[in-house]
Amino acid sequence: MLPMQSVHPLIVHFPIALLIASLLFECLAWVFRIEAWRLTARWCLVAGALGAAASVWSGLRAEAVAKHSFEIHQVMNLHKKLGISVLATSSALSVWWLVSLKWKIPFQRIVYLILLAGVVSVLGFGAYLGGRLVYEFDVGKITVSHSHLD
Ligand code: HEM
Repeated sequence: MLPMQSVHPLIVHFPIALLIASLLFECLAWVFRIEAWRLTARWCLVAGALGAAASVWSGLRAEAVAKHSFEIHQVMNLHKKLGISVLATSSALSVWWLVSLKWKIPFQRIVYLILLAGVVSVLGFGAYLGGRLVYEFDVGKITVSHSHLD
């Protein structure tokens, strides 16, 4: 079975790619006034929110088996808070989209775009910290006993 530290890196690239794609399609749809791209953007957002949920779940499982020092703890805590914020805000935006199909909210498109850009920025910084955990602090390292090979 895959160790928990290996499951999180397997999943995280889905919300990263999907939420960035959502912002890109949203901007393109606005500039070129192509409604189909807006729909693509919204489905990328919903799929990205689902990916964020899986990432938070796997991240919490990885945290439980990860090595900890004071500095690692600081970075991991911030990474965790940013990941949970991405899940909360991308889910809220998904619900907003579904609700706004019925009710028109004033300035909704511009407010929506600003919030989505905020989600992607927080996601980017959170992913950078995740990379630091792995490549700077070696948090994901799995120590294998080779004694059976001796
Ligand atoms: C939207 C949510 C999240 C995203 C997009 C995300 C993204 C990432 C990324 C990009 C890495 C580096 C992976 C690599 O380069 O191999 C990483 C590592 C890590 N993240 Fe997250 N993360 C999220 C949520 C969380 C949460 C809630 C925790 C809980 C503390 C967490 C804990 C970890 C840990 C322990 C690592 C080190 C690698 C490992 O042990 O699997 N992450 N994360």
